[in-house]
Amino acid sequence: MQLNEMRIVVTGAASGMGRHFALSLARAGAKVAACDVNEAGLASLAEEAASASGELKTWITNVADEASVEALFSEAWDAFGHLNGLINNAGIIRDGLFIKKDKETGAVRKFSLAKWQQVIDVNLTGPFLCARELAAKMVEHDIAPGVIVNISSISRWGNMGQTNYSAAKAGLVADTVLWGKELARYGIRVGAVAPGFVDTPILEGMPPAALEKMLKGVPLRRLVSQDEIFQAVQFIIQNDAFTARVVEVDAGLRL
Ligand SMILES: NC(=O)c1ccc[n+]([C@@H]2O[C@H](COP(=O)([O-])OP(=O)(O)OC[C@H]3O[C@@H](n4cnc5c(N)ncnc54)[C@H](O)[C@@H]3O)[C@@H](O)[C@H]2O)c1
Repeated sequence: MQLNEMRIVVTGAASGMGRHFALSLARAGAKVAACDVNEAGLASLAEEAASASGELKTWITNVADEASVEALFSEAWDAFGHLNGLINNAGIIRDGLFIKKDKETGAVRKFSLAKWQQVIDVNLTGPFLCARELAAKMVEHDIAPGVIVNISSISRWGNMGQTNYSAAKAGLVADTVLWGKELARYGIRVGAVAPGFVDTPILEGMPPAALEKMLKGVPLRRLVSQDEIFQAVQFIIQNDAFTARVVEVDAGLRL
């Protein structure tokens, strides 16, 4: 598929990579339904996208909430005539050790169920709900072809301190394979991108020494740019033989 054919939902579009994906797609002529829980971020995105050759509309949507996701897909479908794409990008982190013993008191602290659930809800249930709504509507209305891109992470191999995030990102890759196989008969492809350390606003507050230490373990000794991740997204959209697989863009890092 070509970028200017896309009528595509981008989740988590108010910041970081989602914002870059939404702007790049709108500038390439796509119709973009940009959603997020961050209303101010969406407003500034809409302003920035106003001069794009495509079209960008915004929705305040919580991807972890079924009714909110159903409303997004129903309204965006009507606004653009139909939809044929989705980037499952919205994500959060709530890190901590699984079990931690205090050296002085001997007290054992457990990873909280609340932190587990928040990350599973946004990073795994969210993509499930969004992919389900898109696929159901496309199949119901006989719209094809289509493409779903899931943003996973290098953490899917099991990153210490991320028991919730690693499980969600690994689950997302498992479902990329499963949805890719199940939806192939309807002309819908599904791919994932697994980024390493990406240059996003989250790193802006990081002291240079800490950043340097972090990059010591990266074979290419550098961050991945948001545009390098978008290149992988673009590859998945455009390559009609690609489905049920993951593209890893991580500067060679293995956790
Ligand atoms: N930054 C990295 O180095 C990196 C590496 C690997 C994977 N990732 C993944 O890439 C994706 C984007 O990461 P980023 O660094 O650009 O993040 P970011 O924090 O800059 O942006 C995430 C966006 O998701 C939105 N969001 C959070 N909860 C939401 C919800 N319930 N419903 C809708 N929107 C919600 C936030 O408001 C935010 O705008 C995430 O899935 C993240 O896990 C990031």
